[in-house]
Amino acid sequence: MTQTEYKQLIDAALEESFKGALDLPMAGLAESMRYSLLAGGKRIRPTLVLEFCRVCGGEIETALPVACAIEMLHTYSLIHDDLPCMDNDSLRRGKPTNHVVYGECTATLAGDALQAEAFGTILRSPLPADRKARCAEILADAVGLDGMCGGQYLDMLGEGRELSEQELMDINVRKTGALLTAGCAMGAAAAGGSDRQIDAASYYGAAIGAAFQIRDDMLDVLSTEQELGKPIGSDAMEKKNTYMALYGAKKCAEMIEILTCRAKEALKEVFDDTAFLDALADSMADRKN
Ligand code: IPE
Ligand code: IPE
Ligand code: MG
Ligand code: MG
Ligand code: MG
Repeated sequence: MTQTEYKQLIDAALEESFKGALDLPMAGLAESMRYSLLAGGKRIRPTLVLEFCRVCGGEIETALPVACAIEMLHTYSLIHDDLPCMDNDSLRRGKPTNHVVYGECTATLAGDALQAEAFGTILRSPLPADRKARCAEILADAVGLDGMCGGQYLDMLGEGRELSEQELMDINVRKTGALLTAGCAMGAAAAGGSDRQIDAASYYGAAIGAAFQIRDDMLDVLSTEQELGKPIGSDAMEKKNTYMALYGAKKCAEMIEILTCRAKEALKEVFDDTAFLDALADSMADRKN
């Protein structure tokens, strides 16, 4: 499948989410969840799930609930990341942020509910019990204390203070790297991949994850709101530590190149057909949004 075909498959599956709740008393909450989930987005994490499932010999369709789950989780992280108490941003995926449209209380609950629904979606899927348990465990580890939430906490704690290279790394492996790594590992786990396959998938995910946040920091300075679909200059406004501020654009580009090479290298001996994942890593390295 091409990246566009994966995105279409994922978008169509996500479109079915929470439709049944739209005539329940909490329809407003379901609407706000769907608003952010269906607002667009590159669908990188679910694409990684599906492709790693495929290269591990699994049927793409069987991993589709796992793919939807990670996108729900990611969308929750974006809704909360944009809240006034966090990055205080008003634009996301080219649209007003969730709290701007529905208010802070509903936005907070939409994030909370999307997180729970993510795990429910995995656990209700028709995958064998051991595989879905493994996927849920990988996701929980990637999101919790030593994952995305821990990273977001450290990110907040570092605001207005100059951090070392190691401290910045500690933030980014968790706030961004963990979920991208999880997407790769969950795809492999959904297919019943071997430990060696899951490890290689995780290594690839960690490397592209590190490159992803470096590129994100670059775009916050170098892109336009129009192209990015989210505000630029948000990091400086919130006094964030970023790779751009620490290293400048040239060094950032070099780091991304090295990480992208390492990611591709990790796949070589383990998987037969890596063309899609090689191309995906390359396209993420110089992405424009
Ligand atoms: C944005 O993630 C948040 C970060 C981890 C930097 P994406 O750039 O994947 O956002 P969407 O899903 O395409 O909107
Ligand atoms: C946040 O990083 C990563 C998340 C856990 C959502 P950023 O705060 O840099 O993400 P953007 O730039 O708002 O998408
Ligand atoms: Mg943030
Ligand atoms: Mg942000
Ligand atoms: Mg950013």
